[in-house]
Amino acid sequence: MQKVLKEKIINRSAKVVVIGLGYVGLPLAVEIAEKGFKVFGIDISKDRIDSLKKGKTYVTDVKDEVIKYYLNKNFFVGSDFLEISKADAIIICVPTPLDEAKRPDLFHVNSVVSKLVNYMKKGTLIVLESTSYPGTTEELIADVIEKKLKFETGKDFFVCFSPERIDPSNKSFNITNTPKIIGGITAECLELGKIFYETFIDEIVTVSSTKVAEMAKLLENTFRSVNIALINELTMMCEFMDINIWEVIDAAATKPYGYMPFYPGAGIGGHCLPVDPIYLSWKAKMYNYYSRFIELTNDINANMPRYVIKQITEILNSEGKAIKGSKIFIVGITYKKDVNDIRESPALEIISLLKEKGADIFYYDPYIPTLDLNSSKIYSINLTKEILKNADLTVIVTDHSDIDYQLIIDNSKVVYDTRNVTKNYRPQNVVLLGGHRVGE
Ligand SMILES: NC(=O)c1ccc[n+]([C@@H]2O[C@H](COP(=O)([O-])OP(=O)(O)OC[C@H]3O[C@@H](n4cnc5c(N)ncnc54)[C@H](O)[C@@H]3O)[C@@H](O)[C@H]2O)c1
Repeated sequence: MQKVLKEKIINRSAKVVVIGLGYVGLPLAVEIAEKGFKVFGIDISKDRIDSLKKGKTYVTDVKDEVIKYYLNKNFFVGSDFLEISKADAIIICVPTPLDEAKRPDLFHVNSVVSKLVNYMKKGTLIVLESTSYPGTTEELIADVIEKKLKFETGKDFFVCFSPERIDPSNKSFNITNTPKIIGGITAECLELGKIFYETFIDEIVTVSSTKVAEMAKLLENTFRSVNIALINELTMMCEFMDINIWEVIDAAATKPYGYMPFYPGAGIGGHCLPVDPIYLSWKAKMYNYYSRFIELTNDINANMPRYVIKQITEILNSEGKAIKGSKIFIVGITYKKDVNDIRESPALEIISLLKEKGADIFYYDPYIPTLDLNSSKIYSINLTKEILKNADLTVIVTDHSDIDYQLIIDNSKVVYDTRNVTKNYRPQNVVLLGGHRVGE
């Protein structure tokens, strides 16, 4: 069985099914199709499938032309899980969010596994790419299939975990040139997984188990969260000490070894950094291990939007105004620059809190034309002199590249810059997060 699948992968006759066509699954499915495999993408979202069928992307890094080129040649999309029965390799890229109580919610993974046990045939390779706690691949996928279908892992079917490392909008690193970690349940699983990914990725890093691969992904994202929290704390500290944190970071970053710059901001967002470390700390608790670092990190990062609100209050106060009744213009609402993703974006909490306090909020984001928030709809409005002049305060939350920051500075009464985008042309009307203490 292993030999047959190996041959099919090498000669590209293996049929690949990608489940979950989001920020991770869509670029991956297209990349695999580009390498000559027949790919079927499954998604439960009718809107996303309808959009793809029209050749329209919803992921910034995937172009319409590329979808149109492969669509219905060797790239097919739909919501029919029956396609699983024809698959030689299945890649799972569904969401792994938190529930309301901030615990891992593996509903989507479990739901996919319930389809796998209904439709998969013997000899299939299954790879989980969704981020999750160590043990997920073994406990929720391999063990369940073994039990339900009486298949043996490594003999009748093959299971790996290979974390996605995509960095949306990164111009230097993409799927192909980012080294890919992979761990298998057995040596046979790992061998097949490695051969599969070698067909479209330059460097494969094999590890001894799926747990190591799962933990490696959590280390990467926890490392980022912890370091961002450290910088956010130093930012607040520097404001008290009247030191510009951005200048400090730039100076420290000149050290050619042993230092890596991280930058402050209004909070962290996206599907990874605010979520993944919690998967790890939750699982660790089952071993009676309580991660103090992760708790502290979450506390600092999650409180940044409230810190920004406090600063906004101070800025308006120094102008003799209150939040209530002030016109506040938010520039950039996505969780990071140059992407169209607002999941967990700190801008959403900032907008909600300001609205709650009675501010009149409007925003501009070239990537998000409309925002549905707390059952009301807000529309992005164009950046014009009149809009800027009319606002009591302009707050730059996300530093998209193609924004005319000079126009903002020249026409705003006051600008609160949380990203240091006004660095090269900062006049008197700019207050910088981490610049100096507001209101003094
Ligand atoms: N976005 C990133 O930058 C990034 C980077 C690395 C890893 N990840 C991880 O990858 C996983 C996917 O993230 P994403 O950003 O692509 O999420 P996403 O929400 O953009 O996409 C997931 C897709 O899966 C679909 N889906 C949900 N349940 C399904 C089911 N049962 N069957 C078929 N489709 C289903 C959804 O409709 C959605 O289109 C998560 O675990 C995330 O942590 C994300």
